[in-house]
This record gives sequence, structure tokens and C-alpha cells, in this order.
Amino acid sequence: MSRVDYGDLIPNNVELADDKRLERALASWQPRYLEWWRSAGPQHFSSSEVYLRTAVSVGKDGWANFDYVKMPEYRWGIFLAEPEADRRIAFGERRGEPVFQEVPGEHRFDLRRLIVVQGDTEPASVEQQRHLGATAPSLYDLRNLLQVNVEEGRHLWAMVYLLHRYFGRDGREEAEALLERHSGDVDRPRLLEAFNKPTTDWLSFFFFTYFTDRDGKFQLHALAESAFDPLARTTQFMLKEEAHHMFVGATGIGRVVQRTAELMRANDTDDVRRFGAIDLSTIQRYLNAHFSVTLDLFGSEGSSNAASYYAAGLKGRFHESDRGDDHRLVDASYPVESPRDGDIAVREAPALQALNVMLQDDFIDDCRKGVDRWNRILAKAGVDVQLRLPHRGFNRAVGAFADRHVTPDGRIVSAAEWELGAADWLPSADDRAVVADLMQPCTTPGEFASWIAPPETGVGGRERDFAYVRG
Ligand SMILES: [Fe+2]
Ligand SMILES: [Fe+2]
Repeated sequence: MSRVDYGDLIPNNVELADDKRLERALASWQPRYLEWWRSAGPQHFSSSEVYLRTAVSVGKDGWANFDYVKMPEYRWGIFLAEPEADRRIAFGERRGEPVFQEVPGEHRFDLRRLIVVQGDTEPASVEQQRHLGATAPSLYDLRNLLQVNVEEGRHLWAMVYLLHRYFGRDGREEAEALLERHSGDVDRPRLLEAFNKPTTDWLSFFFFTYFTDRDGKFQLHALAESAFDPLARTTQFMLKEEAHHMFVGATGIGRVVQRTAELMRANDTDDVRRFGAIDLSTIQRYLNAHFSVTLDLFGSEGSSNAASYYAAGLKGRFHESDRGDDHRLVDASYPVESPRDGDIAVREAPALQALNVMLQDDFIDDCRKGVDRWNRILAKAGVDVQLRLPHRGFNRAVGAFADRHVTPDGRIVSAAEWELGAADWLPSADDRAVVADLMQPCTTPGEFASWIAPPETGVGGRERDFAYVRG
């Protein structure tokens, strides 16, 4: 198992010290990264000590080392999963050939694009979450937010390493541009729309980490299959960090639901707003909004780009190697839902063209598991209302459903009917104001805001009332 070299300016397990040119290039990018962190990263807490985990090796447990760290001193570094001996391309036209250790000329443009699009989301989410620290519902939650933020920063490092190491001058230029675009910036926005909306409150943050970080998980899984081995190994390690981000979302929403259910039962009412909690219908509307905006990230249902990435071995399917088909998909078909004659119908599409839908289907299945868990919390508390995922066509801005009005239960309706229903389906200005009002910081160890139940346990081997952030 390779240790991480912390003696270096940039911690790494890629023997950076042996490549002076690359080391110099990254060392000159580092101060610009820190400058970005200071101006766009978490507001406040720069001088606080935060109980964070830092990678110390890329093995099973070695990366989860917890200690107090001042965020600007966090050791952002470059960690790749261990190489797999004699790894072969698992899919596409060159299936069975050895994987690439350098970028093949004919795939240079596509690979750079895939890395830049992934890389752009990482700093974007830090920017979106910049103001949340000021209203954290507890020190435990504040720590989790800041952990997610420093790790998204590290994911940016991961992509920048690939750009610098494998793409020469244009890679360096792309690395600069990753710091120049900004979430929501009118002139230089982030590349994907879901990453240009600020995360205004903690209910949104938990849904963002549940749904949007989960999109990240599926994109990273698809890239972890890549024939370009450095990309595969980089994303494999990122996935270990990503798991915590989704845990924060899944348990965060679970705790909000728990609190709401307890108050509904104790007071025999749906209207828990007067007890300083968030009513279930507001939670459902936030869920609808975040789920639909995240589905847009998968792109159009029919995609010739996705087909050519797959054929070239650049981007695979979720758990590609575990699938029992031919891994070429040239003759395969796949069922795709789309609007037809005022209704929604399923048609068989060529599988290679439908890879975005396949990944989206796997994502939706995964999302459903968490919703089922939240519903078990409701049922256990004796509440007979359930949360549900809206139909995939609901509230979409990308793909086959973008020019239709689809209800959460999957009916195509007129613009007028949509206008009437939208207030029930998406967060209203009133919902947002109520949620915003609840966002009062709780900064005493062990204290939690009125709208969220405490977690079952603390984090990093500590109790729930540990001073996770101090000073
Ligand atoms: Fe990330
Ligand atoms: Fe993440």
C-alpha cells in the first residue's frame, strides 16, 4: 500500500518529486488555488480549528485520519488508487487490450473535455455552499459541511493533476480556467446549470449532497471504468471521499424527517411549522426540485457523444465489469421513456445511444433506496404520509421532456394546468422564507436546531457533543 508523501509541498502518492517539471507547474498553480479558496471557499472559519479527516494513505482505512486542522492549512493533495496489474480495457471497440497509461492522440480532445466537465463541478459546489457555515444547525453539521468542502477542493486537485500531467499546455490553461469560472457568474458561469444556483439553506444542502453528489458518484463510477488508467485510478479514490458526502445528505434528510414526524405525532398535526420544524409537504417540494435539476446533469436521452466515449473505452457504465453482456453493445437495445402523442411511452433505442439513460436509471434506483429509508422513519413514527421521487419527466430543462409539462406522477399536462399545480410541486417563495427563517446557527457543542434530530452517533470516533469546530 503506498503511503502519502507529506514531506512534499503537495502531498501525493504519484512520486511527484521525481518529475520536477510537473512539480513546478503544480507548485505555481497552488497559490492561485489558495487564493480561490480564500475568496470563494467557506466564508468565516478560516482561523477556526476543524475536526477533519485527511488522507494519509490510499489503502482501506489509511485515508480516514481525523484531527483538528485550520482549513487553509488542509493538506490538499494528489492521491490515486493502487494500480491494478495488467489491467485491460473492459468495454468498447478495444475491449481486452491493455489500458492506456498516456493519452492516445485520437482521444485527447474527448478525454480533456470529460476531465474538465467533472473538474468544474468540484469548485462549483464549494462556491454554492459558501454561506452555509453561518447558519449550521450544530457543530457536528458544520464540520460535515466543511469536510465536504475541503474534499471537493481536493477533487479539483485530482482533475488538475491529470490536466497538468497529461495534457501539456492546453491542460494548464484548462486548470487556470477552472479557477476563473464561478458558480452563478454572469460572464463566466460554471459549465453545468445545476452548479450555478446557490445552495441557500441547509435543507437544500442535504438534498444537494443526497442527489447532486450522487450524480457525481455515478459519473465517477463511469469514469472509474475508463481505459485511460490514470483517470480510472483518480476517480476510484475520489469515490471513497464521495461516499461521505452522500452519507451527509442521506442522514441529514433522515434527521429532518425524524424531527418532523416526532412533532406530527406528538401534536397530532401536519402543521409543524409552528413548532420550528419543516412540514413534510415542503420537504417533498424541495425533494422534487433537487431531483429534477439533478436529472438534467445526465444530458439528453439520445447521445452520440456518450456512444463514442463508450466505443473508445473512455467512459463506461456503472459497474461495467459486473455486467453479463458483451460490453460492446453494438447490437443491443435499451428501453427509453419519452413523450409521444401527448402521453409518455417506452421505446427500444439502440443501447449505445442510450447510455445517458442507463446511467440515469442506475442513479434513480440508488436514489429510491434513501427515500425508502426516510419512509421507514415516517412509518416507524406512526406517520402514514410517504415521500416519493417525482417522475423523471417532471420539471426538466434538458432532454426529451424539456419542452413538456409533466406532473410528479408522470402525466403530460397543459401549460395552464402546470401553472396551477406548480405551487404544490415546487418550493414556493413562502416555503423558502419559512426555511430561511429556521436557519439560525447552533454553536454550542451538543446543541441542535429545532428542525433537525441529532445524529445517532458522532463522527471520527467522537461523541455528538464534541467541539467539532473551535475558535
Ligand atoms: Fe467531488
Ligand atoms: Fe461530493
